[in-house]
Amino acid sequence: MSTFIENVHIKDGEYTKIIYVMIREQRYTECIKVLLNLLDSYPNSRPCLSLLAHCYFYTQDFMAAAQCYEKLIQLCPQENLYKLYYAQSLHQACMYPEAWTICSSIINQSNLEFKVKKLQAAIKYGQEDMIAAKNLVDQCPADDVDTEINLGCLLYKEEKYEQALKKFSNALQIAGFKPHLSYNVALCYFKLKEYAASLKHIATIIEHGIREHPELSVGMATEGIEVRSVGNTLTLHETALTEAFNLKAAIEYQLQNYDAAKEALTDMPPRSEEELDAVTLHNQALINMDTKPSEGFEKLQFLLQQNPFPPETFANLLLLYCKYQYYDLAADILAENVHLTYKYLTPYLYDFLDALITQQTSPEEAYRKFDDLANKHTEALRKATKQVQEARLNHDDNAVKKAVNDYEEALDRYVPVLMAQAKIYWDLENYTQVEKIFKKSVEFCNDNDVWKLNVAHTLFMQENKFKDSTRFYEPIVKKKYDSILDVSAIVLANLCVSYIMTSQNAEAEELMKKIEKEEEAVSFEDQDKKLFHLCIVNLVIGTLYCSKGNFEFGISRVMKSLEPYNKKLGTDTWFYAKRCFLSLLEQLAKQLVVLKDSTLQECIQFLEHCEVYGKDIMTVIDQPFDVQDMLNISPQGKRTVVYEARYLKALFLKLQMS
Ligand SMILES: *[C@@H]1O[C@H](CO)[C@@H](O)[C@H](O)[C@H]1NC(C)=O
Ligand SMILES: *[C@@H]1O[C@H](CO)[C@@H](O)[C@H](O)[C@H]1NC(C)=O
Repeated sequence: MSTFIENVHIKDGEYTKIIYVMIREQRYTECIKVLLNLLDSYPNSRPCLSLLAHCYFYTQDFMAAAQCYEKLIQLCPQENLYKLYYAQSLHQACMYPEAWTICSSIINQSNLEFKVKKLQAAIKYGQEDMIAAKNLVDQCPADDVDTEINLGCLLYKEEKYEQALKKFSNALQIAGFKPHLSYNVALCYFKLKEYAASLKHIATIIEHGIREHPELSVGMATEGIEVRSVGNTLTLHETALTEAFNLKAAIEYQLQNYDAAKEALTDMPPRSEEELDAVTLHNQALINMDTKPSEGFEKLQFLLQQNPFPPETFANLLLLYCKYQYYDLAADILAENVHLTYKYLTPYLYDFLDALITQQTSPEEAYRKFDDLANKHTEALRKATKQVQEARLNHDDNAVKKAVNDYEEALDRYVPVLMAQAKIYWDLENYTQVEKIFKKSVEFCNDNDVWKLNVAHTLFMQENKFKDSTRFYEPIVKKKYDSILDVSAIVLANLCVSYIMTSQNAEAEELMKKIEKEEEAVSFEDQDKKLFHLCIVNLVIGTLYCSKGNFEFGISRVMKSLEPYNKKLGTDTWFYAKRCFLSLLEQLAKQLVVLKDSTLQECIQFLEHCEVYGKDIMTVIDQPFDVQDMLNISPQGKRTVVYEARYLKALFLKLQMS
C-alpha cells in the first residue's frame, strides 16, 4: 500500500521569482542546479537550503533532502518544522529508526502534534509494527479523513480486505476523487478477486490522469510513438498512474490476457529504466519473461538487492529459476537468503521449491515430498468443498463467496504440485503412469485449464488414445475459436494430428483453413509480422508422416510449411524441421529408406534457402546471463540456423556421393 498518509507541506520562503516559477512548474532538476550555484556563494542561506530540500524531496531523492534539513536544523535548532521535514525525508528513505529519533525530539508544539503522530504512525507502519501503528492512529482525530485512510491501510495489512475496502470507500465519499485513494479501493477489489470492480476504479484513475495531464504521454509508447521520459515528478506521483497501470497489468496477467498485461505496462507514462520504481521493474521482468528471460532475471536479481523490494520478488525469482530449469541457481538463492525464506515464502511454497530442487538429485525422494504436499492440499480442498456446501445450504452468499475463494486458492496451490509430480513420470516417458496421477485428481481438477491441457497431452503421447485426446483438446480450441491464434500452436497441431489419426480428415482440414484465414487477416494488417501457427501445424503433421516411415510425403510437407522463409523460419519451426531431417538422415544412412533423387535434390535446395534466411536466427532460446559459463553451451556462431543448415547439407551431399 503506497499511501499511508503523513502530510507533506511546502515550506514558505523568500524565493526569487525565477525559482518560484521553476518550482510552480515542477522543473525541479533545473531548480536544483540554480540553488546549488547560489549555495556556493551563500552556503548558509536558509531559504536556499529549504528550497533545495523541497526540490530533492519532490524528485524523490530523499537522502539528499534529509541532508539539507539536517543542515537547516544545525542552523536553527529551535525550528520544529525542519525537524518534522527531516523526519519525513528519513521516513521516505526507509530509515525508520533515525526518523523515529527525530520525531521524539520534536517537543511542545501543539500545532504540529497530530502531524508528528501521523508520521510516527507511518514509521511504525513502515517497520511493520502494526500494533504500535494502530495505537498511534487511534490517537489522531477521528474526523480527519486521513485517519480513516490509515485505518484502512492497517486493515489491508492484516488481510482484512472487505473491512479495508469499507474504510477507503467511506474516505472516498468524504474526500471526493483522489487518485491514490481510488487506487487503494481498486487494490482491495483486486485482493477480493473482484476484477471488474477493480478495473472500473483503475479506468477512472487513468481517464482522470489523461484528461488533467496530457503531457504524461499515456499510451504513446504502445502506439509506437517515440517518447521522452516524463521523469519522477510530483505530478506523476499524484496521478497514481504508475500504480494504476501496474495493477491493471497484474489483473490482466491473472486473467491470462498476457498481451493486455504487456500493453498496460507500455501504456504507463514513460520513464527511463534507471528511473523506474521497484514494482514496475518487477512487473516488467515477470510479464516479458517469455521474450526476454535474461533481462527478466537480471531485474529480479537486482531488486532482491534493494531495500525494500516488492514482497513477491523472492518467490517469483525462485519459481522462475525452477521453471527455466536453473535449479542450481534456485538452490543458491535459497541458501544465501535463509533470512528471507521465513518472511517471503509460505511453508507450502518452501516445501514445493525444496521438492523441485531435490528432484534434480533424487527423483524418488522428490516424488515422496510432492506426494506429502499433494495430500495436504487435497485435505484442504476437501475441507473447502465441505464449507462451500454448508454455506450454500445456509443460503449465506458472503460465506459462499469466501468459501469458493478459499477453495480456488487451495486449488491454485495444489495444481503445480500435481503437475510437478506428473512431470517426473512424463520425463521418463511413462505416460500411463502420468495418466493415473491425473485420474486420481479428477474430482478437484475437472474444471482446471492447466489440468485439462496436460491430460490432453498425456493421452496424445500414448499414441493409441487419439479419440480421448481429441475430446480434451477440442474444448480448449473451441473456447477460443474466434481468436484461434491465441491458442498455442502445439495444441492446434496435436488436435489436427488426433483428427487425422482417427480418420476425421475433414475436421483437420477445416481447422487448418480457419488458422490460415486468421493468419491472412493478421498479415493483411501487419505485413512483416512473423506467423507460426499454420506452419507448426503442418510441421507436426509432416513429422507424423516421417515417424510413420513415409518420408517422401512427410519431408515435402515439412519443407513446404516453411515457405515463405522470411516469415516462417524461426527458432521453434527450425527445431521441428531439423528433427525430421535428422531422422531422415539416420534412416538413409542405415539404408532403411530410399528417397527419389528429385526429393533429395529438393532437400538440399531447401537447406540452401535456410542458409540464406537463417543467418540471424538462433537455434536455442536466449539464456540468462552467467548461466552460459556453467552449461558449457557451444559458442554463439554455431547456434544459428545457417550453421546447422550447412551442416545438414554437408551430410546430404556426403550421402549422395557414397
Ligand atoms: C513543555 O511543556 C511542558 C508543559 O506543557 C513544560 O512543563 C515543559 O517545561 C516544556 N518544555 C520545554 C522544553 O519548553
Ligand atoms: C511406469 O511407472 C510405474 C510406477 O512406477 C511402473 O510400475 C511401470 O512399470 C512403469 N511403466 C513403464 C513403461 O516404465
